Amino acid sequence: MASKADIILGLQWGDEGKGRIVDLYAKDYDVVARFAGGDNAGHSIVVGDRELALRIVPSGVMHPHVELFIGGGAVVNLRTLLEEFDALAAIGVDVSRIKLSDRAHVVFPHHLERDRAAETERSQALGTTGRGIGPAYVDRVARTGVPLADFVRTGDALAARIAPHVVDGVAYIHERLGAGSRVLLEGAQGSLLDVTYGTYPYVTSSHTIAGGACTGLGIGPGAIGRVTGVLKAYCTRVGAGPFPSELHDERGERLRRQGGEFGTVTGRPRRCGWFDAVAARYAVALNGADAAVITKLDVLSGLESIGIVTAYGLGGKTIGFGAANAAGLELEAEYLQGWSEPIGDCRRIGDLPAAARAYVERLRELIGVPIEMVSVGRERSQLAR
Ligand code: GDP
Ligand code: IMO
Ligand code: MG
Repeated sequence: MASKADIILGLQWGDEGKGRIVDLYAKDYDVVARFAGGDNAGHSIVVGDRELALRIVPSGVMHPHVELFIGGGAVVNLRTLLEEFDALAAIGVDVSRIKLSDRAHVVFPHHLERDRAAETERSQALGTTGRGIGPAYVDRVARTGVPLADFVRTGDALAARIAPHVVDGVAYIHERLGAGSRVLLEGAQGSLLDVTYGTYPYVTSSHTIAGGACTGLGIGPGAIGRVTGVLKAYCTRVGAGPFPSELHDERGERLRRQGGEFGTVTGRPRRCGWFDAVAARYAVALNGADAAVITKLDVLSGLESIGIVTAYGLGGKTIGFGAANAAGLELEAEYLQGWSEPIGDCRRIGDLPAAARAYVERLRELIGVPIEMVSVGRERSQLAR
């Protein structure tokens, strides 16, 4: 019987911890697929004392039974991909399981140059990852890009190495779903970076939300199963753009230090702030999320009180996330009691200190969907359910 594909994606500005959650869920799937973005993504996985930072290869790769697929919605820097293949092969991972759609486009060195030039020309830089992602998508839309289907026919040395991994992407995913394979789709970036619904123009150039999974793989909405959104217990953002709940004081510094909030791809310090429930509810709606996972709760241990932004106002009226970049935005926040105990060893939500449980419960009320699990440390096993 045909199966449906489940989705795990980020509900904030990226780096929510999607990679480690996908790694965890992947054991129950046959295929893990990316549907958008490129090597602007950096997904970290920690298994025992081994740490992987994946840029393009889907985060299910540490499970030997899982097939990995990169859909047509992605743009692929083949040099980064081959570097990743080599690094994975060096630790004994079989990379022949990694397939790419013939519809994915190639990121060329000139895309990286154009990305950098565009950043310098703008009056305010977006703070892109500099990986050529925007220009590669521009070329696709302008119909001047190069799909992998065409690239592998060029006879280029790189093409010869990549060719065995390139498949008819639409046939691939439909065959898997038709045969009842369990398919998990891994989002990249975050919902608030979506090219249409994010904090435009401070966004990435792809559709990062659940709708992007359909166009990014060539499947219909009826082929989508459960959508799980990943939310950090606070907020971070790399690069420029609106971030209403950002903390510009030592509390933001503390989150950055305690949470190790430095970009996986560029090493840039991430901007940090309180959990933004207005943004989270907006992202739940954009994706039709069925459930949420909260990550990095352990980072909040030791704070006396923890803030949550609960509403935005403008001129005394309550407004939605769409106005996040409005000048004179007024924030409503509430402050919950913190807890001092380390929580990295908790494996059940019921084992968390009462104040941590109350915080998670308040997040659940505010976002309006069940919280499936809470991560309490970087290692695969550090999860409370
Ligand atoms: P992604 O892009 O959404 O996959 O997230 P990244 O991997 O870029 O960033 C998340 C970072 O937080 C990584 O360094 C993870 O190892 C780390 N991380 C994930 N979950 C937890 C957690 O529960 N606690 C702590 N302290 N770190 C975590
Ligand atoms: P993962 O998958 C966080 C941000 C960049 C910049 C904007 C545009 O690891 O969550 P781009 O290079 O895409 O044109 O940059 O988007 N950005 C991310 N921020 N995590 C990511 O990926 C990101 N991918 C892009 O910092 O603000
Ligand atoms: Mg990341």
